[in-house]
Amino acid sequence: MKPSIVERLEEKRRGARMGGGQARIDKQHESGKLTARERIEVLLDPDSFEESGMFMEHRHTQFGMDAKRIPGDGVVTGHGTVNGRLVFVYSQDFTVLGGSMGEAHARKICHIMDMAMKVGAPVIGMNDSGGARIQEGVDSLAGYGEIFQRNVTASGVIPQISLILGPCAGGAVYSPALTDFTFMVRNTSYMFVTGPDVVKTVTHEDVTQEALGGATVHTTRTGVADMAFDNDIDALIQARRLLNFLPLSNREECPTRTTEDPEDRVDMKLNTLTPENPNKPYDMMELVRSVVDEGDFFEVKPDIARNIIVGFGRMNGSSVGFVANQPMVLAGCLDIEASVKAARFIRFCDAFNIPLITLVDVPGFLPGISQEHHGIIRHGAKLLYAYAEATVPKITVITRKAYGGAYIVMNSRHLKGDINYAWANAEIAVMGAEGAAKILFRGEDDSTRKQHEAEYVETFANPFVAAQRGYIDDVIRPQNTRWRLCRALTLLKGKETQKPWKKHDNMPL
Ligand code: HXC
Repeated sequence: MKPSIVERLEEKRRGARMGGGQARIDKQHESGKLTARERIEVLLDPDSFEESGMFMEHRHTQFGMDAKRIPGDGVVTGHGTVNGRLVFVYSQDFTVLGGSMGEAHARKICHIMDMAMKVGAPVIGMNDSGGARIQEGVDSLAGYGEIFQRNVTASGVIPQISLILGPCAGGAVYSPALTDFTFMVRNTSYMFVTGPDVVKTVTHEDVTQEALGGATVHTTRTGVADMAFDNDIDALIQARRLLNFLPLSNREECPTRTTEDPEDRVDMKLNTLTPENPNKPYDMMELVRSVVDEGDFFEVKPDIARNIIVGFGRMNGSSVGFVANQPMVLAGCLDIEASVKAARFIRFCDAFNIPLITLVDVPGFLPGISQEHHGIIRHGAKLLYAYAEATVPKITVITRKAYGGAYIVMNSRHLKGDINYAWANAEIAVMGAEGAAKILFRGEDDSTRKQHEAEYVETFANPFVAAQRGYIDDVIRPQNTRWRLCRALTLLKGKETQKPWKKHDNMPL
């Protein structure tokens, strides 16, 4: 008997769901990876996925392509929910022609990106692909170009997250590079513009894929990726967690979560957080975890530029972006990596209306020939620019040192910090007392210089001069930091600002 239309439909669906077939699915599992569909299942709420384009196929015939038509064309696309909130997803299927991108594959991705822009919801791309489908020539290149253009148009409108869960090579790397957050998996994912073979031919260097562009390289050295995980499941679960902090689009409010953590909670431990000796380090993360709701903090880029901490927390249930100097690493100095890391995070928060809290303990910009020659002026300017242009509520707490240019850059009142607090032990000065005395009293003997140093400490190693000038709104007790911040955020909820008309700015790149 002829199968009914419903039976035919189900048959077709079953075929499409098998992708490149059981043997290739097994190979995918053997290499420690989930399949495209399994990844979607882990990422989205159960039964929330609605697929689109399941039956799309390519229309190419050359190089044996007429015999290689697989419904879906190597990418699973659609939408679903994460904790009940709408997201669009695409997941490249390495079992179909190596997940390579051809014309139809690209059109499917573009379609869900267009839909996400129309309705205002994030796009999460799961990348596992051999790159441009060689048999489709310029059509596959065109596909990449269409996606890049959409990545740029969507930037600052909807959050875009890239999960690199397999190969991502050649020009393909530029789509994740244009998105807001990129996660990688150790030992199974890699990103490079040209692979080890080309490198060997051109520069005669021997290098493995992992050493050239694995997760460790991109999270500790290049900053291309934000976080590295041990397996697909960890990466997918953490993407869900990240989404919980983000609004669906720049038109939407940040999600709020009811919390049992009292807004007015004091933490007496903070009164002894900063050591008596101002040159001794302490862990700024203790302060971050102390002030956020339930100690829940999502750190972004934790493995690079560890002298600055950036990430998301909640204050009284609402998402907040944190930027904090970390005295444990390089004494909390700002250097090139730290400036770029924080600048990008600040721009993300500003684009998506996430208020910023800045915790300052910074002895200055990192000195050195390497920093100067690699462009600390240009890169440091990015951080300054990001703070100065941000219009979201901006609150600062100086916990100890705020010296020189770094004092200005770290969301000072002068860069339109809305509410600026300092702990009672804060030191706001052009530089540390020892350095100041050395410059001002160069010709003097050691004991006279020491006297002047003590005088400088007495005069400047406190927050009161800045408070007298109105650069600091209040000098607060460390134990009260959480409730002062919560109250400040409530006050700033209705903040509105105006900017002069311009086509766009020209930030230092
Ligand atoms: C068509 C591809 C493909 C591609 C892989 N396949 N990459 N088909 N176009 N780009 C197919 C293989 O022929 C194979 O098909 C199947 O996918 C699995 O590939 P394997 O090589 O067996 O897998 P593996 O050993 O795991 O190696 C994976 C790989 C390798 C490292 C990704 O396939 C590879 O090097 N591919 C080429 C990568 C590349 O140079 N891409 C172009 C980059 S340039 P069968 O049928 O045999 O199973 C680029 C430009 C973008 O992308 C520009 C944008 C602006």
